[in-house]
Amino acid sequence: MTSQDLMKQQAAAAALEHLEEGGLVGVGTGSTVNFFIDGLAKMRSRIAGAVSSSEASTRRLRAQGIPVLDLNEAGELEVYVDGADEATRRLHLVKGGGGALTREKIVAAASRRFVCIVDEQKLVERLGRFPLPVEVIPMARGHVARQLARLGGEPVWREGFVTDNGNHILDVRGLEIADPVALEGEINQVAGVVTVGLFARRPADVLLVGTSTGVVTLTRDA
Ligand code: 5RP
Repeated sequence: MTSQDLMKQQAAAAALEHLEEGGLVGVGTGSTVNFFIDGLAKMRSRIAGAVSSSEASTRRLRAQGIPVLDLNEAGELEVYVDGADEATRRLHLVKGGGGALTREKIVAAASRRFVCIVDEQKLVERLGRFPLPVEVIPMARGHVARQLARLGGEPVWREGFVTDNGNHILDVRGLEIADPVALEGEINQVAGVVTVGLFARRPADVLLVGTSTGVVTLTRDA
């Protein structure tokens, strides 16, 4: 295992302590979350089940014997656990490297607490080094790309990739993300955008950062 994987695994293990006994947990997507699912499997009798943010996580949860519920049946969740591609100390995030951003945003919005798990390489002063994913309705791809270029970005179609919702992804480089809350709103207003991978209007509540010397906990209230 690489040192980065070890840090992801530590952050994922720390997130297990944030779960409610007998409750439902929202589960994100990605390699860090996979460590979380593997940890969850060892304590599955202590949770009622999970709501998943992707087909990939659903398969992994079910393979571990964890019941997966539809969000409409589950209602509001106590806690959502997910990774990120970038995170700031204000707990604003860029997500969607794995292409699951829309369902991730929905499950995060439906959860009282969002616990984000990352390794220290994801912690940044300002968002924008990682290309910003934008999920788009396929017929709107060209239109949305032109609007993103007007905002100063360089959008690239993630060719060959189709989201769980049947849509396309544009990865946008070169955006100046000085105000993540404003930019999230602006991009989400473009016709044809399903959602942008900025999580600033609903940021994480707790950020667990795996580092070479242990897990650092950052909270929104701090
Ligand atoms: C998927 C995501 C992931 O949380 C993000 O890409 C981080 O992935 P990983 O844990 O593999 O680094 O947003 O859509």
